[in-house]
Amino acid sequence: MDAFRIQGGSRLSGRIAIDGSKNASLPLMAAALLTDQPITLRGVPALADIGNMSRLLGELGVTVHGLHGTITLQSTDESPTHARYEMVKTMRASICVLGPVLARRGRASVAMPGGCVFGERPVDLHLRGLEALGARIELRGGDIVAQADRLVGTTIFLGGPFGSTVLGTANVMSAATLARGRTVIESAACEPEIADLAELLNAMGARITGAGTPRLIIDGVDELGPADHRVIPDRIVASTYAVAAAITNGDVTLNDFPYDNLLAVIDRLSQMGVRVERHHPDEDPRRCTVQVTTQRVLRPVMITTQPYPGYPTDLQAQMMALLCLAEGNSMIAEKIYPERFMHVAELARMGAQLFRQGPTVMIQGVKRLVGAPVMASDLRGSACLVLAGLAAEGTTTVSRVYHLDRGYARMEETLNALGAKIERFNADVPEPADQPVPMPAQLVEIFR
Ligand code: EPU
Repeated sequence: MDAFRIQGGSRLSGRIAIDGSKNASLPLMAAALLTDQPITLRGVPALADIGNMSRLLGELGVTVHGLHGTITLQSTDESPTHARYEMVKTMRASICVLGPVLARRGRASVAMPGGCVFGERPVDLHLRGLEALGARIELRGGDIVAQADRLVGTTIFLGGPFGSTVLGTANVMSAATLARGRTVIESAACEPEIADLAELLNAMGARITGAGTPRLIIDGVDELGPADHRVIPDRIVASTYAVAAAITNGDVTLNDFPYDNLLAVIDRLSQMGVRVERHHPDEDPRRCTVQVTTQRVLRPVMITTQPYPGYPTDLQAQMMALLCLAEGNSMIAEKIYPERFMHVAELARMGAQLFRQGPTVMIQGVKRLVGAPVMASDLRGSACLVLAGLAAEGTTTVSRVYHLDRGYARMEETLNALGAKIERFNADVPEPADQPVPMPAQLVEIFR
């Protein structure tokens, strides 16, 4: 398994561009199941999860040309309807094929995703939404089996105990494009990834209004056609690199930065004393150039994660690394996944002062972090540990970086291009230091 060895203390500077969004790409790829016409997606990132989704779509009769960058997908065999557990367990986002397969093929069976390291992750809202459209749903042998001759539009309230659901909205909205009549989704997710999906679906001939707001109106059509679509930049990757600049007291320019989709993050960063400045006001604020610099001293802040446009849960761990070095006490309340704190114990190994009580962590700023061996157990937690390693004194090794590879394309190369010192190595091969040290010759003599 690959690991990172990070020599902390380098100040990052330079310029990088932000890739297309993973969390937008996955449901966009699944939308190809809604038609037998080709769908071209541009700016798809080179990530393990994109490969996983391509494999799953391949099993569902979709031909996928290209691995990343520009990919073309075409549903050429519409008979398969089963997403196997072996596929779903590698990637929870596989659930987003459920709505499209059901709407187009009349039947879908998708293995029920299990929980994950940051808690139970139910799909009840996905199922409730599809049932409201007329699907008959049962659980059979660990699979969600959904059937309907043709879905029928209705009004659906899709909010849950933690607010809206992103992939649930993607599933129900995608399915409703082919339903008979009008569907209204209330308490829909407003995330930019949903607006991006609606843009693709409309380009395919769907009739969706209200994307990006909590009320979506979808007038069903009989068929969808081909489309060519550019994926939005990844707001979580963009803001992770902004935090990397801040935590190293650097000066980094980010191209293709989705400024308008990151207002809650930019607000917190500016409260801390991190400047995220646009130098070309005429550029599209959804894809523009920003310069990230700091005022050296970081001020503490309060953060509560919320559905969009609130502060994103997917940037909670990374910001915690930065707050460890603020002058004073900060607070993070996690309102989407109250258990998403595996990075807390690992940061503590690096000298962070963290006090957790339920879904809240108090962060007492320290003067410095110190390098240590740490282990990642999820994607964003891994990013947090890499960021901490960049700022720490000495060497940090982050193991199991396969988590990181799911959401950041060759992160070490990107950061090294900005001046970081990160080496990827295979942690299964013993390091020279770990190998048995030969007994000195004099001792060999004594024991002979
Ligand atoms: N929830 C329910 N019932 C449901 C679905 C969700 O109660 O049927 C709850 C969840 O347990 C959670 C909240 O609602 O408390 C929000 O979950 P949501 O459904 O929005 O999450 P998701 O769609 O499965 C996407 C991202 C996650 C991101 C969340 C929240 C993708 C592929 N995944 O997941 O991204 O954390 O939205 O913004 O888009 C990541 O990229 O690291 C990641 C985990």
